[in-house]
Amino acid sequence: MSTPSKFQRTLVTSALPYANGEIHLGHLAGAYLPADIYVRYLRLRGEDVLYICGSDEYGVPITLTAEKLGITPKELVDRNHASIKKSFAGFGMSFDNFSQTSRDIHTETAQAFFKDLFDQGVFKQKTTEQFYSPSQDRFLADRYIEGTCPKCGSEGARGDQCEACGSSLDPTELIDPRNVQDNSPLELRETTHWFLPLGDWQAKLEEMIDAHPEWKDNVKQYCRGWFKDGLQDRAVTRDLGWGVPVPLPDHAGKVFYVWFEAPVGYITTTREWAAARGEPEAWRTWWQDPGTRLIHFIGKDNIFFHAVMFPAMLMAHGEDY
Ligand code: MF3
Ligand code: ZN
Repeated sequence: MSTPSKFQRTLVTSALPYANGEIHLGHLAGAYLPADIYVRYLRLRGEDVLYICGSDEYGVPITLTAEKLGITPKELVDRNHASIKKSFAGFGMSFDNFSQTSRDIHTETAQAFFKDLFDQGVFKQKTTEQFYSPSQDRFLADRYIEGTCPKCGSEGARGDQCEACGSSLDPTELIDPRNVQDNSPLELRETTHWFLPLGDWQAKLEEMIDAHPEWKDNVKQYCRGWFKDGLQDRAVTRDLGWGVPVPLPDHAGKVFYVWFEAPVGYITTTREWAAARGEPEAWRTWWQDPGTRLIHFIGKDNIFFHAVMFPAMLMAHGEDY
């Protein structure tokens, strides 16, 4: 495969691995080794290529693991980041930069990205009822909620699914919902969040996908399925303590949904790379110059976020990306 001549350079990303544990061979075979081989091939051909990645360090599973180990989430992700980085280095992965989403530069990048969309009036605000733990004085993510499964009656079903019968659940369906951590009862309270109306970009996304004959068939099939159902509004904020804070007044205790902020991590790690070279603005060439092509190496469960959500976010940002 040769680079089409309209492109002067190629930006390659591998999905940011969760810093919730070690990486193993299964990871390498998926989004990492193939990308590294491809990047080395482009470099050998003398092409202009940048290969970036980093650890994905927010989200509920990180908080749960840290609580189990009795350490802070930041301690956990720093530890795991170091070990992931070391394993990748040991395998000879040739990233130009490998960052972390818990760094200040990512907070800045993600907040600025959000603010830009916010100021353009892109988001919708909605108020919904969510489970709140009076004993801990916080809203609980689905994984923190436990109760009796409404489908099979087994106890210990989680707010997102019942492991016993495999049903996927909404926390409000659980019978006798409780806080996983202290078994205390919960109450429903209203909370307000910001949503990205993905449907507003559906037509443009469909065009984008049609313009890419080289995409794998299964990826396009998934996308067509989502388009057929119509793209829904997607919440981009959450009531959680561990995440990038929402940069708005009166939003204490609210952070970005990981799948809003983590893909912006690709931009962050490019910015960090550019800053380290003493050319802080050089990241723009890789994200805002039409002569750059962007190639994501991902796993199957990441298709929606890379083929629909992140492109919609970039489209919403404007012609600059
Ligand atoms: N951490 C996710 C996973 O391992 C991938 C995140 S990719 C990004 O499935 F685009 F969000 F960064
Ligand atoms: Zn069940």
